[in-house]
Amino acid sequence: MSDQETAPRQPWQKPTLTPHRVGGLNKFGKFGAGHFHQHLDRVDGVEIRQIMKDHGSPVFIYSERRLRENIRRLRRAFVSRYPAVQLGWSYKTNYLGAVCAIMHQEGSFAEVVSEFEYQKARAAGVPGHAILFNGPWKPRRILEVALPEGARIHIDNLDELYLVESVARDLGITAEVAIRLNFDTGYTETWSRFGFNIENGQAMEAARRIGTSPHLRLKGLHSHIGTFITDVRAYAAEARIMAEFMEAAEYQTGCVIESLDLGGGFASRNNLQGSYLPPDQVVPSFEQYAEAITTALLEATRGREAAGKPRPVLILETGRALVDDAGYLASSVVANKRLANGRRGVVLDAGVNLLFTAFWYHHEVRPVRQLDGFPEDTTLFGPLCMNIDVVRHSIMLPPLDVGEPLVFSPVGAYNNTQWLQFIGYRPAIVMVGEDGQVDRLREPEDLESVRGQERLPERFTRPFAANLSR
Ligand SMILES: Cc1ncc(COP(=O)(O)O)c(C=O)c1O
Repeated sequence: MSDQETAPRQPWQKPTLTPHRVGGLNKFGKFGAGHFHQHLDRVDGVEIRQIMKDHGSPVFIYSERRLRENIRRLRRAFVSRYPAVQLGWSYKTNYLGAVCAIMHQEGSFAEVVSEFEYQKARAAGVPGHAILFNGPWKPRRILEVALPEGARIHIDNLDELYLVESVARDLGITAEVAIRLNFDTGYTETWSRFGFNIENGQAMEAARRIGTSPHLRLKGLHSHIGTFITDVRAYAAEARIMAEFMEAAEYQTGCVIESLDLGGGFASRNNLQGSYLPPDQVVPSFEQYAEAITTALLEATRGREAAGKPRPVLILETGRALVDDAGYLASSVVANKRLANGRRGVVLDAGVNLLFTAFWYHHEVRPVRQLDGFPEDTTLFGPLCMNIDVVRHSIMLPPLDVGEPLVFSPVGAYNNTQWLQFIGYRPAIVMVGEDGQVDRLREPEDLESVRGQERLPERFTRPFAANLSR
């Protein structure tokens, strides 16, 4: 018998031509995010296929273990370098009840930016004093609730300053507040639409205005210099500039600042579009962020103890870097197609309605098993009837049958807050617990849950089927 007769038969595969890709490799000889590396069959030991069988496709999956590990590592990095640190969980990054509960169990305050988020934090049991209230619009009705509850209001603009003052006056209380600052760090673009600018004098004017009010007391300074900041020097500059402003504001107004809130913005281990290098090369560790910030802060606040003033509490509102890599989206292939230009297209059951961050990141996309076949440059489309619904423009993937699962990660930040109920139902969300148990965190939507908010005026309820006869 010849070798050919004894060898196991390989399934036939359609031949494909793959053009040579210029620039596919980075300087480490890796394909980076344009290429899938391995399969991913489990989250914390639990089979993704089983989760999809039990909860449907697509489905978001969170890892409790990863979330807790992340927040503990972040806290350790800062607490081991600076005497007073407080974390504030950024609700807008992910306000799933279970995610927030884990953050609060681990000692995080809530950082909220709207009436809804404030109410959600309070309903979850977060006391007012543990809520940092940011954002450019805080309606009077929620200030009337939040001020007596002791929430820390981070004032964004002069109109808001007057509003907070008038609410405090009407309630007969003195509100302890913070102001949001913006300034040029020299490393980031200035987000001057939020808060008071230091360089043009607005910020000091706001501090003075608060200093003269019998109803307000300036207790804190806040800033959020941007998102996905990979240069730790930007944070060192932020800490130094805020500490300098603190000294000047105290001198000019007689107030004593108790906290400096440096906001969020640490990069997650995600692959920002346009980034040449992979995340493990460009994203600093928590220790690197902590070293830069605390070194600058310790240096800038060195003289305080001698002046009889404690060093300010360092507040961090880290969002994406804590939750992004704890989240996965498992989806399924629903169709294959060949585009007019010869490219291969694959349609998935999850689109940009669920994966808003596909506009910014090249997520990892992995099958749940080792797939045979020659990888081909592929565009991944979502199921929306919209041209922009592309979850990945270009990725090397082997042939995929209808029904084959593909897992996107990291997707834990911003997707479950910015997702859209557009032409379909948003899917279930589950969490794999530390003990391996899988719990539902959110039910999949259905016709009733989507229609529930609608009201049909009486005149539209008359039967119309007769008008639709052929
Ligand atoms: C005021 C404030 N704090 C914290 C965050 C969280 O940022 P990130 O998720 O980038 O850490 C944001 C996000 O935009 C923010 O605006």
